[in-house]
Amino acid sequence: MTANWGGGYVTDIHYDHGYYREQSPTQLRLACLLSGVAVDLPQEGAHYLELGCGQGIGALVVAASNPSWRVTAVDFNPAHVAAARALAREAGLGNVTFLEADLTEFAETATAAALPEADIVTMHGVWSWVAPAVRAGIVRLLKAKLRAGGIAHVSYNALPGWQGLLSMQRLVREAGIRLAARSDRQAQAGFALLREMAATEPHGLTADSRMTAWLAEVGGYTGTYLAHEFMNAHWSPCWQADVAADMAEARLDWVGSAGLIENFAELAMTAPQRAIYDRFEDPAMRELLKDLCAARTLRHDIYMRGARRMTVGARDAALSELTLALIVPQDRVQLEVQVAAGRAELSPAFYGPVVAMLGAGPARVAELLHAPGAVATRENPAELAGLLVGTRQAAVVARPGAAPTEASLSLNAALARRLAMTENLNRAAVLASPMLGAGLPCATADLFVAGQKMAGRTEPDLEAWVAQLGETLDAENQGRLREALARGWDEMLPLMRRLGTVPA
Ligand SMILES: C[S@@+](CC[C@H](N)C(=O)[O-])C[C@H]1O[C@@H](n2cnc3c(N)ncnc32)[C@H](O)[C@@H]1O
Repeated sequence: MTANWGGGYVTDIHYDHGYYREQSPTQLRLACLLSGVAVDLPQEGAHYLELGCGQGIGALVVAASNPSWRVTAVDFNPAHVAAARALAREAGLGNVTFLEADLTEFAETATAAALPEADIVTMHGVWSWVAPAVRAGIVRLLKAKLRAGGIAHVSYNALPGWQGLLSMQRLVREAGIRLAARSDRQAQAGFALLREMAATEPHGLTADSRMTAWLAEVGGYTGTYLAHEFMNAHWSPCWQADVAADMAEARLDWVGSAGLIENFAELAMTAPQRAIYDRFEDPAMRELLKDLCAARTLRHDIYMRGARRMTVGARDAALSELTLALIVPQDRVQLEVQVAAGRAELSPAFYGPVVAMLGAGPARVAELLHAPGAVATRENPAELAGLLVGTRQAAVVARPGAAPTEASLSLNAALARRLAMTENLNRAAVLASPMLGAGLPCATADLFVAGQKMAGRTEPDLEAWVAQLGETLDAENQGRLREALARGWDEMLPLMRRLGTVPA
């Protein structure tokens, strides 16, 4: 029987296990600084609140990576809450609480009233997928619970990025609810009809070439993801300015993007586009122009309750004090990256020596700016930190030198036991790190290797591991898995050890 308590949100299929670095406290802090906004987030004792936490991986990782913090995570799906609580118990994590509550009315409950003010509130995959009444409830909660100077993160499907794809979602959902029962099957049935319909080339569907890309790639997505993306009754992409107007009701100011690269106008737009953008100061107008140029479908926006602008000097001083660490093996760092405006190259004359210095271990931005042999035309800590972290090759280190805790290691072992499995091989994984104060994103093969290490392995056993993790794969994919596991042991394990995600 189909559940009907979700107010139009999918409840019959549980969501995937995901970790999103845009929700990590260190990345949020860095994004605020890049936007020239002062951050007074306490290093210890902060309260982090996540709304619509799904399986709770993000909240668990933030809690394990910040042992002195309190983490509260809310979701209305009892299966999600039960699974997250079970993982917290298995890991022995005492600083995270999962609450089963509907955000439509949570702000008015005694439970919410009893919560301390939050330093950070994050929500990924919630805003544009739920009904207006839920969004209104979220705004009331932010108004009641985000402290002055606190940071809010909200991701949502964005316009005009989705504009040409609205008919695709509409057809998938309308067809799906008529053709199948469970929502993952509905999404699949919807896509089957979309494929058939698209072959007849109706203008209303095929105007946006990304529809063809969706059809080509849909097999790579889990049924769960497709159900939660496409089958919600109130699915509705938003304009940045409209979300900002809703957030203003809670006295929140728009700050910038947690997708760090997007804060660099020169990487988001071509020179002629930027010339128009530069004529405006109003952030809403600037974001509209940026969104027209990049047509991104997902935004990760940051708000602050009372954003205080810093001088450029103060901002650069704060950025220079940050410590960075590589989160990919040094040999795999890419200096050429794809950005919205095309391909960008991080100058090898400067970034080559910077990366070499980071290869030896975490370093302060102030030191990296003067890495031996680095040639630069000017000191630019924002570019250095923003590009290295924004291209997902480095992370901010919250507590340089901090050792893993019993709970962080035991969460990592539990994540490996539960999630390092064949069906997750194409999905991203994560390990908690008190040194980073956030998760270390990694491949599922790396998570498996970490689990083996924590179970006492001192040598890789690639054949046995491929048999265990890739039993159902064909020979070609088993070969790829063998390589990924070998890389995990040889290249990622030293990094995982250095960043305190597995024992030294
Ligand atoms: C797309 S999922 C994202 C989950 C998680 N944040 C992630 O990214 O993995 C949206 C989540 O919001 C929850 N949700 C939807 N409507 C809600 C409501 N009214 N109150 C509380 N949670 C809700 C769903 O149960 C689901 O877990």
